[in-house]
Amino acid sequence: MADENVVWHEHAIDKNTRSQQKNQQACVLWFTGLSGAGKSTVAGAVEQRLHQLGVHTYLLDGDNVRHGLCCDLGFSDDDRKENIRRVGEVAKLMVDAGLIVLTAFISPHRAERQMVRELLPEGEFAEVYVDVPLDICEQRDPKGLYKKARAGEITNFTGIDSVYEAPQNPEIQVENGERPLSEAVDQIIQYLEQHGYIN
Ligand code: PPS
Repeated sequence: MADENVVWHEHAIDKNTRSQQKNQQACVLWFTGLSGAGKSTVAGAVEQRLHQLGVHTYLLDGDNVRHGLCCDLGFSDDDRKENIRRVGEVAKLMVDAGLIVLTAFISPHRAERQMVRELLPEGEFAEVYVDVPLDICEQRDPKGLYKKARAGEITNFTGIDSVYEAPQNPEIQVENGERPLSEAVDQIIQYLEQHGYIN
């Protein structure tokens, strides 16, 4: 909470003005899923497609944000909560800038995803569940982290010794086990078109 002597300042150029200049409706596409589910890959491919369509975007990615803004945080429940809180606030600022924001974070707890949802006005947050079963993520193991977690070399690893609470009612559920990446991208682009975020 802000100090009681800190007063909000309204500016002449607001979110709608910024969005309209880009002919888009700002929102956050909040990708969630297990490590190895393909959150960054799908979000990156969606961003590429949006870029080709002339949409102004930004992609906030878990691994990258943890190199700067959140480099002081680890993977305890409290640190993950703080990670998601900071990213939620940054995403909100970027929505205020008029962008279509894509975020790729495990964001394992329903409560934190709900917290971010509540930061934004209705219709400006869409949860995108990148749905891949744990055994497939573990087979893929693109960074060798599941292997390390099984060997006890990493603790608090999501899905192994730290919880992942799957979304119950996401705006978009992307099955990303077997099918081509382009189908997942099409599904998300269609959602954005049908809901008037892009034309
Ligand atoms: S969280 O839970 O949302 O705060 O996590 P996030 O910021 O998305 O960071 C996930 C990436 O960190 C790497 N990593 C771990 N993930 C889960 N558990 C543990 N203990 C862990 N340690 C490191 C991993 O590369 C995650 O990236 P993705 O892209 O999800 O595989």
